[in-house]
Amino acid sequence: MKLHILNGPNLGRLGKRQPEIYGNMTFSDLADACRMKAEQLGFSVEIKQTDDEATLIKWLHEAADDSIPVIMNPAAFTHYSYAVRDAAAQLTAPLIEVHLSNPAAREEFRHNSVTAGVSVGVIAGFGLQSYLMAISAMHDLLTNDKS
Ligand code: DQA
Repeated sequence: MKLHILNGPNLGRLGKRQPEIYGNMTFSDLADACRMKAEQLGFSVEIKQTDDEATLIKWLHEAADDSIPVIMNPAAFTHYSYAVRDAAAQLTAPLIEVHLSNPAAREEFRHNSVTAGVSVGVIAGFGLQSYLMAISAMHDLLTNDKS
């Protein structure tokens, strides 16, 4: 079971970036915790971050072509990138959207997600736990566990 966890712009700055919102954990801490959880559940996982829209789109195309399930935090692209949404719409395995913070409780421009509509669901507001819950939810989806 493969799984890609894709992260958009500024998430590589975790630890330094607005710790009052995003916490003190670095991207590498987040990736380590996600890797541990995913491997415990039997996933072979790739965890990547880019500040570049074209790179994120290329990764989505690759996941689409190889039918790989994706957990994605599109970061600010969430709110305006129709190109990322169009790429995500091509996925052939499930997509779960995650956010560390709860965009619905923040500035108005964060209230809309253009990518959520092509996801199975969105988990937001729980910091690292958003990712860990998404990994668990993806496992249940793929193994047909309805509990
Ligand atoms: C974010 C929320 C977005 O609004 C923001 O642009 C980010 C991070 C989150 O994980 O909380 O970069 O996706």
